[in-house]
Amino acid sequence: MGRPLRLPYLDQILGALAHSPDPSASPLLRALGTRHVHWGYYRDPERADDSLEGLAAAQEALSERLLRLAGVGNGQHILEVGCGLGGTLALLDERHTGLTLHGLNIDPRQLAEARRLLTPRQGNRVRLMVADACKLPYRDGIFHVVLAVECIFHFASRLGFFREVRRVLTPGGRLCLSDFVPPAFAALWLGPWFLCYARDISRFYGWMNYFSPATVSGYRMLARLTGFRLTVNDDITRNTLPTYPVLLRVFRAIDHPAAARATDFVARVSRAGLVRYRGLVFEAV
Ligand SMILES: C[S@@+](CC[C@H](N)C(=O)[O-])C[C@H]1O[C@@H](n2cnc3c(N)ncnc32)[C@H](O)[C@@H]1O
Repeated sequence: MGRPLRLPYLDQILGALAHSPDPSASPLLRALGTRHVHWGYYRDPERADDSLEGLAAAQEALSERLLRLAGVGNGQHILEVGCGLGGTLALLDERHTGLTLHGLNIDPRQLAEARRLLTPRQGNRVRLMVADACKLPYRDGIFHVVLAVECIFHFASRLGFFREVRRVLTPGGRLCLSDFVPPAFAALWLGPWFLCYARDISRFYGWMNYFSPATVSGYRMLARLTGFRLTVNDDITRNTLPTYPVLLRVFRAIDHPAAARATDFVARVSRAGLVRYRGLVFEAV
């Protein structure tokens, strides 16, 4: 890649994992550092509490929902790009048999953590590889499913990523991703508004592709250009909203004002409907 990738939130999580004698005592690690580094899916958002236990269960439920949308089944070859600390791969391993699982990440430190979490069972196989999601180090046509949970906004090019995924999928294979997607009416001016918070966002979340946020029609166009068809468009914004108060509480507890301001901004645009959290599935045609 042409630019160095800075992801301070992951540096902070990995630093805490390396130095916390008791990770269960660290609110940051309990929120984002045990298995999943993503938002939660609260089945009943009106009744959600703001506990760390509730967030952990909701994060697991988000992975479960995406795996269901992707149509994951026993015996498949599955690639997860941007696989973080390995939580979704671990869930796949726990729920299915005969899987060949590949996890890919640009950051070797996260893969080292994922290796600790993953002890493949039930005849499943797991391989982890350091690489850029826009340059996949795999042969053509070998995966039934490619997963990208809450990471595409860090990639240098959504188009480059889609081309690579199409190349490595079997015919009829599926790409399932989750992303923060603005409605068309908000897309034009959301970029400049994001810029007002760019300093806070980059101080915690690092580099984001927020100059080209993809709308649903943008994703449809990407799909047409690269040999896919959008088959599932699951708006789960409402179910993810209870994530924000939990994260805000944690960022205030660890005294990280930039993280709190950046997250509060995303919370406000999400509550206002200016960014929607979507699970999207694309079928290779
Ligand atoms: C928000 S975390 C999500 C992690 C994981 N998918 C999860 O849900 O727990 C974003 C992930 O994308 C990875 N990532 C960012 N840019 C990448 C790239 N160009 N290629 C591969 N992975 C990348 C980061 O290292 C990080 O693991």
